Amino acid sequence: MTTGMDFFAAATLPAPRVDDAWARRVARESFGVDAVAHRLGSNQDANFLLRTPSGQPVAVLKVSNPAFGAAEVAVQDAAADRIAAACPDLRVAQVLRADDGAVQRATITTPDGPVVARLIRFLDGGTLFGKGYLDPRSVARLGEVAGQVDLALAGLTGDGLDRILQWDLRYADRTVAALGSSLPAARRAEVESAAARAWDLVAPLVPDLPVQVVHLDLTDDNTVLGADGLADGVIDFSDLTRTWTVSELAIAISSILHHPGAEPADVLPAVRAYHSLRPLSEAEAEAIWPLVVLRAAVLVVSGCHQVAVDGDNAYAETRLVREWRIADQALSAPTEVMTALIRDALGLRAGGTSLPDGVLLDVPDAVVLDLSPQSSFLDEGAWENAGIAETLAADRLAAGHRAVVTKFGEARLAGSPALVQEPPASVATGIDLWTAEPEELRAPWDCEVLSTGSGIVLRADDVELAAHGVEARAEGAVVAGTVVATTVPRSRTRITAGRRAGSVPERVAPRYAPGWLASLADPAPLLGLPATGGVADSVLEQRERALAEVQEHYYREPPRIERGWRHFLVTEEGRPLLDMINNVAVAGHSHPRIARTAERQLRLLNTNSRFNYEAIAAFGARLADLAPDPLDTVFLVNSGSEAADLAIRLALVATGRSDVVAMSEAYHGWTYASDAVSTSVADNPNALDSRPSWVHTVPAPNPYRGRHRGADAVRYGPEAAAIIDELAASGRPPAGFIGESYYGNAGGMPLPEGYLAAVYSAVRRHGGLAIADEIQVGYGRLGHWFWGFEQQDVVPDIIAVAKAVGNGVPVAAVITSRAVAAKYREAGYFFSSTGGSPLSSRIGLCVLDIIRDEDLQGNARDVGGHLKARLEELAQRHELIGAVHGSGLYLGVELVRDRTTLEPAASETAAICDRMLDLGVVIQPTSDRMNVLKVKPPLCLDRSAADFFADTLDRVLSEGW
Ligand SMILES: Cc1ncc(COP(=O)(O)O)c(C=O)c1O
Repeated sequence: MTTGMDFFAAATLPAPRVDDAWARRVARESFGVDAVAHRLGSNQDANFLLRTPSGQPVAVLKVSNPAFGAAEVAVQDAAADRIAAACPDLRVAQVLRADDGAVQRATITTPDGPVVARLIRFLDGGTLFGKGYLDPRSVARLGEVAGQVDLALAGLTGDGLDRILQWDLRYADRTVAALGSSLPAARRAEVESAAARAWDLVAPLVPDLPVQVVHLDLTDDNTVLGADGLADGVIDFSDLTRTWTVSELAIAISSILHHPGAEPADVLPAVRAYHSLRPLSEAEAEAIWPLVVLRAAVLVVSGCHQVAVDGDNAYAETRLVREWRIADQALSAPTEVMTALIRDALGLRAGGTSLPDGVLLDVPDAVVLDLSPQSSFLDEGAWENAGIAETLAADRLAAGHRAVVTKFGEARLAGSPALVQEPPASVATGIDLWTAEPEELRAPWDCEVLSTGSGIVLRADDVELAAHGVEARAEGAVVAGTVVATTVPRSRTRITAGRRAGSVPERVAPRYAPGWLASLADPAPLLGLPATGGVADSVLEQRERALAEVQEHYYREPPRIERGWRHFLVTEEGRPLLDMINNVAVAGHSHPRIARTAERQLRLLNTNSRFNYEAIAAFGARLADLAPDPLDTVFLVNSGSEAADLAIRLALVATGRSDVVAMSEAYHGWTYASDAVSTSVADNPNALDSRPSWVHTVPAPNPYRGRHRGADAVRYGPEAAAIIDELAASGRPPAGFIGESYYGNAGGMPLPEGYLAAVYSAVRRHGGLAIADEIQVGYGRLGHWFWGFEQQDVVPDIIAVAKAVGNGVPVAAVITSRAVAAKYREAGYFFSSTGGSPLSSRIGLCVLDIIRDEDLQGNARDVGGHLKARLEELAQRHELIGAVHGSGLYLGVELVRDRTTLEPAASETAAICDRMLDLGVVIQPTSDRMNVLKVKPPLCLDRSAADFFADTLDRVLSEGW
């Protein structure tokens, strides 16, 4: 028996017609609260935020819809109390109690009849709805909250729980039938038939779906954010009812779907999180997506209906836009695919489909093409050719092979590396076959043959086999072995097998692949070939098992990258990502000239640098020519750390001193000496505590947020010089000063005008040497200058350079004067086995040739200038961007919470980087405050890629992160 509200008996549910003045009066007269009332949005209740005259929120005055009885309201309050007691980490919108313990609840008469009004705890922080884009952690947290609430409510009993609500998905079919006529004519059939199909899928599961009391509206609108930006509060219990427990989750995840950029697969973190708290049964897992579809249908029919009956409810109208987006997303992926995807995400028994044994065409010697991102067929940009598979197949057939096939389930790389924010559909749902001659395809089993115009579909029991691009030779029922079609020589035949194989897309997006592939099978065994192997082991897990933890990787969940091309990195799923941080790959990834140079040299000779060969001589001379006078002497090493270390040792040995001055907040490497002078806590959190006594620092000359800002920044130079003078006066004249000549680790800032001139002259005045760390800023990246010190109009005594020198191959150099090198010779020692090896030297020369021939420095200047202008334009529209630093393709986008206090937006920067990755851009934070997006891409970056980066950042800053 239904004791509460019956939606199908109540004609309409317009929200109570009461206003702010009424609410203020009720608050005062019924609850003794003197407050200003401001109405909040609600579909069917009237809610008012009560604030003190000074604006402090006091409580929410909730006026329930007159259709709800007192028992229903009372049990809602009991449910809130129960959750609060069971989940101390959740904030719950409980009914407030007066000092004497009495519940702040009263029945008030209105022109529409008696209503129950009560004071509810106000939760600050804003709702999850207000967050815009929802990252996977936010989504997971919503699922976790739903799980916590359901565990807390399990076993709750009481009056007012047996209600018939339009939101209860047990009545979704009736709700859609009752309100469907409110839908716009153009969408009605689509929504009604999707709901009917979903209902048919849920119906057989009903006996196995657990039932309990649930919140039933645990959406983004009814969850409130805590200080960490994740949901920790639950409000609005007005839809509390007893129904299928899994409805809670389905309703919660539906609300994710209207958020910017959200698509069906984005709900999976919530489903997983819910399952880890309250494990879902097989039936519940099967029911989730059909229930999402039903929820979406109920939302749009109810939304359209509400707008119709309650014309002036603007809140309902704005909601409707979101509700349509939920419906569009819920219907955008086939329900079976989503169910298989959910099962896969939960690790439930895989659906999987196996084919009965049989032979379609026996070609066990067929050539199997590898079109995965790691395929060597796709090297040197061959993957830019969209018809690469056809070309490869034609070559193999021309070479005398009878047949060529591709692999099932393979994420393929073919076509230009496009700049796209969505991952391309790359996973093959079937295989392609090319034959040299016409080949007869035979029915592998007794089956029904249907001709499709472009080929045939064979139907047997619950599997299908589709062959597109063949000439049909039979129709209707046939027995195994009957010739059913003939291939067209050298033309592609596409074969798919499994349940509904006739209607699957040729390729699907990697995120949805487990959902699609669950109902498909590898057709290879029907051709006498082995099936494609299972899923590869996680490279990340293997890495974490084998390597030291301190050898870190970017991102919490890094994509697996196995190919690069120009300024793209390619994931194993065949997704090109725009690489905005690879300062080692100046010439671009997989540059064919470098690859050929390496191969040629490895075939000729590679040995240690004590032998006499041309490459080391040529490379040394070339580097010496690049440096200004009097720097003409080169040491070749393998890394930036080694170069910085050697530069410091040169200064120490050449001067016979033991003190060094370094710039604060800088990073120079991890070897003993380079680490000692590194005080950036971004790279080494212990940098400040572990600094040895021979290292002295001068303040970071940061003109944006340091002690001296803007024009005042010229004071840093003289102040640093004074520190050096003091050190000398104290009897410890420094051996040298080391600093980046463009302030890289702070996010690509130019040093203040005259800074290096002042510091270099101070250190030289006391007999020390000036070391320029050009490891990341040198070699043309700055666009206007080849070396960073040129910007400062100075010449150092020692240059340390690395990264770009080998385009990612370990090659680095120290360049100094013959006099300094000679002094080092007297008391020092140097030998590097592979520093300057034939291979390193050849690659070093090749990189310099490419920089010259492709005018990469000019490109850095032009594209970098364009990019900086785009970013500065973004800064005018997005408050979060405090400043855009840098030059050429060495830029820093500094993110701040407040442009006056410059409070660093570190967590925002991290989240923005994750969201940028999601949208196809690799970018990372830098600086000691980790609030600067470091922009240092390969120098071959073109304008369209620069625009893609700026557009994507614009999108993220607009939609949320
Ligand atoms: C300015 C600077 N110096 C030195 C190094 C150390 O170079 P490597 O990592 O090649 O040892 C780095 C590396 O990030 C750097 O940025």
